[in-house]
This record gives sequence, structure tokens and C-alpha cells, in this order.
Amino acid sequence: MIGNDMKNDIKKVLITEEELANIVKSLGEQITEDYKGKDLMIVSILKGSILFMADLMRAIDTPCTIDFMAVSSYGSGTKTSGVVKIIKDLDASIEGKDLLIVEDILDSGRTLSYIKDILLARNPKSIKICTLFDKPERREADIYADYIGCDVPNEFIVGYGLDYDEHYRNLPYIGVLKESVYND
Ligand code: IMP
Ligand code: MG
Repeated sequence: MIGNDMKNDIKKVLITEEELANIVKSLGEQITEDYKGKDLMIVSILKGSILFMADLMRAIDTPCTIDFMAVSSYGSGTKTSGVVKIIKDLDASIEGKDLLIVEDILDSGRTLSYIKDILLARNPKSIKICTLFDKPERREADIYADYIGCDVPNEFIVGYGLDYDEHYRNLPYIGVLKESVYND
């Protein structure tokens, strides 16, 4: 059960605010370097990536545009449903753009694999993936990220945009959720 005190539902803090800031800064520097002179368009996958996206774009020091896409992957549980559906599509054409998909976490990889295939069919000039977190041991789809903030263990994490049942996105750090929250 989700309690009234968010911090009380957290078993341990996995990544602090300061560590998150350092990870994002370093990703921003790499992306800045790689996209100089290109037509960078950042696509944020809603909703989990919004905090990451907001911080990352401020760490990118080269011209870019942004757009958003929402798909359904998880229901209210902690395991992928296997059903991925577009809920909100991009506003603009991506033809000829250097696309960078920004995602919160790469888990089974089904969500990103599906999104990448759809976007590839729209003729961008290039397409790369930036994920804040990667759970490599959980991978089911044949997909990898070009930029990875850090690998995380096979535990359900929340905070900094990541949710459990739409909650905990506003925690400023990454925490591991107590099993009692989703088991009872
Ligand atoms: P995938 O399709 O299995 O790779 O699922 C990716 C999506 O699942 C992410 O964008 C998240 O919304 C969600 N997800 C996967 N693992 C976690 C987690 O540990 N905490 C919160 N959300 C997660
Ligand atoms: Mg989610």
C-alpha cells in the first residue's frame, strides 16, 4: 500500500541528488560534443523521463528542439505487460533530424524497441537512445542505448520521474521501494 509519507515507503536510497546531477552533467557534455553542427531533436518519452529531460537539456550546450511521445508499457504493476501502444504522438515531422530519444530506464527493452522502429520508419537522419538507467540483465528485446547514465540492479526503483502506480515521481533521489508497498 502507498503510504502518506513517501520517504517511509523507501527501503534505501540508491542514487542521491548529487550523484544524479553529476550523471546528467556528464551525459550532457558527451551529447554536446557528439551533436555539434547537427540538427538535434530530443524526444522525451513521457512521463518517466520528464525530470531527466529537463535537467539534461540544460546540460546540452548546442542548439536543439524537443518533442514528446507517450506510450503505454506498464499498468499499475512492476512488470511489463508486453502491450505497447502510442498514447501521444510527436507534434512535428522528424524527417532529416538527428533524433535523440530520452528515456528514464531501459528494462526489458520492449518499449524502446517498439518506439525506435516506429520512428525509424519516418526517415530521421540519425537516431540514438539516451537512457538514464539501464537494467541489462532484464533485457528481452534486441536493443541497446548509445548513452547510459548508469546501470542499476534488478530492483524496482522510484523517484526523479520514475513511478510506482504514478506515485513517487517527485522524490528528488532514486530509491528502492519496500516490497510491502506493492505486495500488500
Ligand atoms: P521496458 O519496456 O520493459 O524496457 O520498460 C520500460 C519502462 O518501464 C520505463 O520507461 C519505465 O516507465 C518502466 N520501468 C521499468 N523498470 C522500472 C523501475 O524499476 N521503476 C520504475 N519504472 C520502471
Ligand atoms: Mg512508468
